[in-house]
Amino acid sequence: MAKKLWGGRFKKATDAQFEEFSRSIQYDYKLAEYDILHSMIHVTALFNAGMLTVQEGKQLNDALTQVLSGIEDGSFTPDLAYEDIHSDIQHRVEKIAGDAAGKLHTLRSRNDQIAFDVKAYCFSEAMDTIVRLRAVLIALEDLAVKYDGMCFPGYTHTQHAQVILFSDYCHCWAHMLARDLERFDSYLQRLSIPVGAGALAGSAIPSEAYAEAVKEVLDGEGPVSGPVVNALEHVSDRDFVVELLSIVSITQMHLSRFAEDMILYSTAEYRYLDLPEEFCTGSSLMPHKKNADFMELMRGSTGRVYGDLISVLTTMKGLPSSYNRDMQLDKEPLFSSLELLQNELEMLARFIPGITLREDVIVTALDDEHFYGVEVAQYLVEQGVAFADAHEVVGKLIRYAEDNDCEIREMSDEALRGFHPSLNQQAVNEVMTPEYAVNSKKSIKR
Ligand code: ARG
Repeated sequence: MAKKLWGGRFKKATDAQFEEFSRSIQYDYKLAEYDILHSMIHVTALFNAGMLTVQEGKQLNDALTQVLSGIEDGSFTPDLAYEDIHSDIQHRVEKIAGDAAGKLHTLRSRNDQIAFDVKAYCFSEAMDTIVRLRAVLIALEDLAVKYDGMCFPGYTHTQHAQVILFSDYCHCWAHMLARDLERFDSYLQRLSIPVGAGALAGSAIPSEAYAEAVKEVLDGEGPVSGPVVNALEHVSDRDFVVELLSIVSITQMHLSRFAEDMILYSTAEYRYLDLPEEFCTGSSLMPHKKNADFMELMRGSTGRVYGDLISVLTTMKGLPSSYNRDMQLDKEPLFSSLELLQNELEMLARFIPGITLREDVIVTALDDEHFYGVEVAQYLVEQGVAFADAHEVVGKLIRYAEDNDCEIREMSDEALRGFHPSLNQQAVNEVMTPEYAVNSKKSIKR
């Protein structure tokens, strides 16, 4: 049986089924590199505090470096016989450093280690997500440039509303994702990763020894802030997990809405877009099908991401202050949501350049007179009509055209004047075009 870090006070062996139930190594091995970093700082602090000889400090550091290089070159595989990554690494250090390994955990607690490890993981994954978001933003910008100046049908309530520019449509998503990027960035600015909390009450290792150790090990690099200010709070806190999952959830909500548009706009009913084939699938029965499965799976995955956020929020809500084992359950939701989002963003950066517009279909769609109700009302306002009256006139005009199955643009001057004396065929034909519609919008700062 794998040696435990806490066996001394127990006479009986742990129930085998419970041991399995409590194990976290099968997922917390992902924290290995951060756990080693924590150990390196801790060993240096112990040495600074006079609690290790030069020889012991060197043996421990060499052993940790050796384990770390295994993680870096990909040869490290977690030993699933251990309870968690802390115990697994302790064992590896014992094998390399012999007796000195007995001092590695001096006055340290896994409560401190796990808070440090998860925070460092969050820091590194938030950075990685920012890089992937940037790639998606570039892809959106390229698409906007590719179709620069092109008009596109704009909707509200999924009904024809007004004409917009396709570049504005692309930028709409870019703005949402840029806000997400800012959220990840400001999260990083606020994340502080202290050391030296012990189990909950600090330890006899002086804070100066930790401050020096952080400087020595990290050489001013990285997010580790220094000695802990409130040890109890540090081991109690998982706000940084909840906050990161909240940012991931908002980003995922944006991706889900984007997916919804892509699915809708590529259907036979809309036909505005052609989606890249590499991201679509067919049907085993219906040979004609080209399904937008990437978009559907991305939309569908939103349930998982929200579930992960709610899972951690719910786990935390009833916990008394300090560390409680329940907190182990933050990791799977955290890892799962971040891995999913990063995967989606990486694919999206390749998906977006493959989107093509069916310009002929779009031009035909924009022929629908319903898109130009506002422009006709705007024309009347320019002739001095009060907007409320103009709205009423255009409403009646559109209703008339619908009831009589005719085009407003084809109505005679006389018929149009019947609705308002300022209306005439030339004027309505001038304002009821996509180009007029977009060019007459002056409130947008471009
Ligand atoms: N595996 C635990 C977690 O993920 C860390 C160690 C727990 N500490 C303890 N005293 N049992 O939260």
